[in-house]
Amino acid sequence: MPALFEPYSLKSVTLRNRIAVSPMCQYSAENGVVTDWHRVHYAGLARGGAGLVVVEATAVSPEGRITWGDLGLWNDAQAEALRPVVASIEAAGAVPGIQIAHAGRKASANRPWEGDNHIPEGEPNSWETIAPSAIAFGGGLNRVPRAMTLEDIARVQDDTVAAVARARDLGFRWLELHMAHGYLAQNFFSPYSNTRDDQYGGSPENRARYLLETLRRVRAVWPEDRPLTVRLGVIEFDGNEAMIGEAIALLKRMKEEGLDFVDVSMGFNTPDAKIPWAPNFMGDIAARVRAETGLPGTTSWYIARPEDADALIRDGKIDLVMLGRPLLADPHWPYAAAKTLGVENPAWATLPPPYAHWLARYR
Ligand SMILES: Cc1cc2nc3c(=O)[nH]c(=O)nc-3n(C[C@H](O)[C@H](O)[C@H](O)COP(=O)(O)O)c2cc1C
Repeated sequence: MPALFEPYSLKSVTLRNRIAVSPMCQYSAENGVVTDWHRVHYAGLARGGAGLVVVEATAVSPEGRITWGDLGLWNDAQAEALRPVVASIEAAGAVPGIQIAHAGRKASANRPWEGDNHIPEGEPNSWETIAPSAIAFGGGLNRVPRAMTLEDIARVQDDTVAAVARARDLGFRWLELHMAHGYLAQNFFSPYSNTRDDQYGGSPENRARYLLETLRRVRAVWPEDRPLTVRLGVIEFDGNEAMIGEAIALLKRMKEEGLDFVDVSMGFNTPDAKIPWAPNFMGDIAARVRAETGLPGTTSWYIARPEDADALIRDGKIDLVMLGRPLLADPHWPYAAAKTLGVENPAWATLPPPYAHWLARYR
């Protein structure tokens, strides 16, 4: 059996294979509520054969959305509307996961295909942005956020805990806290966006405080037997070698506080990064984080070939692959991968009976 198709167990969860759907915002919600788009999208991805489906960045509060089309979990109506999405993922044999997020200084933007830039304050679909310090990201995301007070920090942590409790009650079995990609948690972690002179800024320990505190508070409400994971930006590709060491130190602390797994990603917290885009380029970085923290983990970014995905797992660099665009291109990528890697009965190994029965006889 190729490594990519070995089951993976963590706490009470067993994934049928090592293929995960990376969280991908659809920017298609209405007031944070799922629409038909999401119901079809997530059911289709789960039916395609992935072991884990992580629902997109879901905001803890209205001001925590990247765009007005983001999903939210700050009220019960949003939670109820997500229930059939969870059920459809389970029904297809995948494990339902969710990413919980606050967009920090990158919030209040246009949808990517409508510009990806900040909507000026006062215009429709815009709102005040908040972040650790009043420093803009730059480029098209040039709005200066309001520096958060201590009350703001406590309130966003309360909102995060409340959203996680809703996700728990909905039956999500895998939780990912979004602490990457230039959003609020990364804003605290990074000196690019955090120049505070209180206990939340300055030293690496102080810049990590918001992330660690949030994790601790979430662990208290997220069931002990369900995996608690974070997506952390560990590198900016800006020449700052210290960042990955700080990230590893933070992850070790988080592990002591109950973190189960890490999704290794990038900071995206400065427009000046020089990212070395290439197939599998995050693989060795994820392997280093995994080895030095002792946490199981994953990564994504340009892992498109089944042979590469399989090798990353077989070589012990990561425990599962998070795929994004390959699954948008082909939700049945797991079936194609099973054929490529020589899995026995690839259709039955990956697809539900109404598809597998016919494809098993069709070459
Ligand atoms: C449409 C789209 C939406 C995305 N939304 C999110 C998101 O909600 N949260 C997140 O952490 N990453 C998000 N990402 C990044 C993906 O999770 C993934 O890491 C990235 O696409 C790289 O993997 P790939 O090369 O397999 O596409 C998004 C990517 C795409 C293409």
